[in-house]
Amino acid sequence: MNVDLYEKIWMYGVAVMLALFFGSTAMAAIGRNIHPPSHVETIDPKTALADPRFAKQGVTRGLDGKVDASVVGMMFVWLPAEATIPADTPVTFRLTSMDVVHGYQIVRTNGQVMVVPGYVSQFTVSLPVGEYLVACNEYCGIGHHTMAGKLHVVPKEQWTPFPEVAK
Ligand code: CUA
Repeated sequence: MNVDLYEKIWMYGVAVMLALFFGSTAMAAIGRNIHPPSHVETIDPKTALADPRFAKQGVTRGLDGKVDASVVGMMFVWLPAEATIPADTPVTFRLTSMDVVHGYQIVRTNGQVMVVPGYVSQFTVSLPVGEYLVACNEYCGIGHHTMAGKLHVVPKEQWTPFPEVAK
Protein backbone atom coordinates (compact mmCIF):
# COMPACT_ATOMS: atom_id res chain seq x y z
CA MET A 1 0.00 0.00 0.00
CA ASN A 2 1.36 3.40 -0.96
CA VAL A 3 0.97 6.10 1.68
CA ASP A 4 1.79 9.62 0.70
CA LEU A 5 4.68 11.24 2.61
CA TYR A 6 2.53 14.00 4.14
CA GLU A 7 -0.13 11.45 5.05
CA LYS A 8 2.57 9.48 6.87
CA ILE A 9 3.83 12.55 8.74
CA TRP A 10 0.31 13.30 9.96
CA MET A 11 -0.28 9.68 10.93
CA TYR A 12 2.88 9.52 13.00
CA GLY A 13 2.17 12.97 14.39
CA VAL A 14 -1.26 11.85 15.57
CA ALA A 15 0.20 8.65 17.04
CA VAL A 16 2.81 10.66 18.99
CA MET A 17 0.16 13.10 20.27
CA LEU A 18 -2.13 10.28 21.37
CA ALA A 19 0.76 8.59 23.15
CA LEU A 20 1.60 11.89 24.92
CA PHE A 21 -2.01 12.52 25.99
CA PHE A 22 -2.68 9.00 27.25
CA GLY A 23 0.80 8.83 28.75
CA SER A 24 0.40 12.06 30.71
CA THR A 25 -3.06 10.98 31.92
CA ALA A 26 -1.66 7.64 33.05
CA MET A 27 1.30 9.34 34.73
CA ALA A 28 -0.98 11.73 36.63
CA ALA A 29 -3.32 8.92 37.69
CA ILE A 30 -0.73 6.31 38.62
CA GLY A 31 2.39 8.33 39.37
CA ARG A 32 0.88 11.34 41.11
CA ASN A 33 -2.34 9.78 42.35
CA ILE A 34 -4.61 12.41 40.78
CA HIS A 35 -8.13 11.17 40.11
CA PRO A 36 -11.46 12.73 39.22
CA PRO A 37 -13.94 12.70 42.12
CA SER A 38 -15.74 9.38 42.16
CA HIS A 39 -17.75 9.80 45.31
CA VAL A 40 -21.50 9.72 44.66
CA GLU A 41 -23.64 10.30 47.70
CA THR A 42 -26.96 12.13 47.69
CA ILE A 43 -28.69 14.34 50.25
CA ASP A 44 -31.83 16.46 50.40
CA PRO A 45 -30.54 20.04 50.13
CA LYS A 46 -33.58 21.51 51.93
CA THR A 47 -32.90 19.54 55.09
CA ALA A 48 -29.10 19.34 54.87
CA LEU A 49 -28.59 21.12 58.20
CA ALA A 50 -30.86 18.61 59.96
CA ASP A 51 -29.18 15.65 58.31
CA PRO A 52 -26.95 13.80 60.80
CA ARG A 53 -24.07 13.99 58.33
CA PHE A 54 -24.11 17.79 58.40
CA ALA A 55 -25.96 18.73 61.59
CA LYS A 56 -22.62 19.54 63.23
CA GLN A 57 -20.34 21.45 60.93
CA GLY A 58 -16.72 21.43 61.94
CA VAL A 59 -13.80 19.10 62.29
CA THR A 60 -14.03 15.82 64.14
CA ARG A 61 -11.97 12.73 64.69
CA GLY A 62 -13.87 9.51 64.11
CA LEU A 63 -13.59 6.33 66.13
CA ASP A 64 -11.21 5.05 63.46
CA GLY A 65 -8.86 7.97 64.18
CA LYS A 66 -9.53 9.64 60.83
CA VAL A 67 -10.13 13.37 60.73
CA ASP A 68 -13.25 14.61 58.94
CA ALA A 69 -14.33 18.15 58.18
CA SER A 70 -17.98 18.73 57.39
CA VAL A 71 -18.86 21.95 55.61
CA VAL A 72 -22.15 23.32 54.28
CA GLY A 73 -22.22 25.99 51.60
CA MET A 74 -25.07 28.42 51.02
CA MET A 75 -25.45 31.90 49.56
CA PHE A 76 -23.03 33.40 50.60
CA VAL A 77 -21.29 31.66 53.45
CA TRP A 78 -19.45 28.52 54.33
CA LEU A 79 -20.52 26.84 57.55
CA PRO A 80 -18.20 26.91 59.38
CA ALA A 81 -16.53 30.01 57.92
CA GLU A 82 -13.36 29.16 59.82
CA ALA A 83 -12.02 25.73 60.58
CA THR A 84 -8.91 24.35 62.23
CA ILE A 85 -7.29 21.12 61.10
CA PRO A 86 -4.15 19.26 62.15
CA ALA A 87 -1.06 19.62 59.95
CA ASP A 88 0.44 16.82 57.89
CA THR A 89 -2.61 14.66 58.50
CA PRO A 90 -5.02 13.46 55.83
CA VAL A 91 -8.27 15.34 56.45
CA THR A 92 -11.35 14.30 54.55
CA PHE A 93 -13.58 17.23 53.69
CA ARG A 94 -17.25 16.41 53.18
CA LEU A 95 -19.36 19.16 51.74
CA THR A 96 -22.81 19.90 50.48
CA SER A 97 -24.79 22.93 49.31
CA MET A 98 -28.23 24.09 50.41
CA ASP A 99 -29.03 26.14 47.33
CA VAL A 100 -26.89 26.45 44.20
CA VAL A 101 -23.55 25.16 42.97
CA HIS A 102 -20.59 26.54 44.93
CA GLY A 103 -16.90 25.71 44.71
CA TYR A 104 -14.85 25.05 47.83
CA GLN A 105 -11.26 25.95 47.17
CA ILE A 106 -8.43 25.99 49.67
CA VAL A 107 -6.40 28.58 47.81
CA ARG A 108 -2.91 27.56 46.64
CA THR A 109 -3.44 23.90 47.47
CA ASN A 110 -4.98 21.10 45.46
CA GLY A 111 -7.87 20.92 47.93
CA GLN A 112 -10.91 21.95 45.98
CA VAL A 113 -14.22 20.54 44.85
CA MET A 114 -17.53 21.57 43.31
CA VAL A 115 -20.26 21.70 45.94
CA VAL A 116 -23.52 20.68 44.32
CA PRO A 117 -26.95 20.77 45.98
CA GLY A 118 -28.32 17.28 46.37
CA TYR A 119 -24.88 15.69 46.57
CA VAL A 120 -22.14 15.20 49.11
CA SER A 121 -18.73 16.12 47.70
CA GLN A 122 -15.61 14.73 49.23
CA PHE A 123 -11.85 15.15 48.99
CA THR A 124 -8.89 14.45 51.22
CA VAL A 125 -5.88 16.74 51.72
CA SER A 126 -2.89 16.86 53.98
CA LEU A 127 -1.50 20.36 54.46
CA PRO A 128 1.51 21.93 56.14
CA VAL A 129 1.06 24.41 59.01
CA GLY A 130 -0.35 27.72 57.83
CA GLU A 131 -3.31 29.99 57.31
CA TYR A 132 -5.24 29.32 54.15
CA LEU A 133 -7.86 31.34 52.38
CA VAL A 134 -10.97 29.42 51.38
CA ALA A 135 -12.72 30.85 48.35
CA CYS A 136 -15.87 30.03 46.46
CA ASN A 137 -14.80 29.46 42.87
CA GLU A 138 -18.16 28.88 41.20
CA TYR A 139 -20.23 31.96 40.45
CA CYS A 140 -23.21 31.60 42.76
CA GLY A 141 -24.89 34.98 42.74
CA ILE A 142 -24.58 38.61 43.71
CA GLY A 143 -22.53 37.91 46.86
CA HIS A 144 -20.23 35.31 45.30
CA HIS A 145 -17.09 37.40 45.87
CA THR A 146 -17.83 37.65 49.61
CA MET A 147 -18.14 33.89 50.05
CA ALA A 148 -14.78 33.33 51.67
CA GLY A 149 -13.50 31.47 54.69
CA LYS A 150 -10.34 30.59 56.51
CA LEU A 151 -8.58 27.37 57.26
CA HIS A 152 -6.10 27.24 60.11
CA VAL A 153 -3.66 24.37 59.89
CA VAL A 154 -1.97 23.89 63.27
CA PRO A 155 0.67 21.41 64.48
CA LYS A 156 -0.90 18.03 65.25
CA GLU A 157 -0.27 18.24 68.99
CA GLN A 158 -2.04 21.61 69.22
CA TRP A 159 -5.15 20.48 67.43
CA THR A 160 -8.30 19.42 69.23
CA PRO A 161 -11.46 18.12 67.62
CA PHE A 162 -14.68 20.16 67.65
CA PRO A 163 -12.93 23.53 67.71
CA GLU A 164 -15.79 25.31 66.03
CA VAL A 165 -18.85 23.15 66.22
CA ALA A 166 -21.98 25.09 65.34
CA LYS A 167 -24.72 25.29 67.93
CU1 CUA B 1 -20.61 30.39 46.46
CU2 CUA B 1 -19.64 31.55 44.58
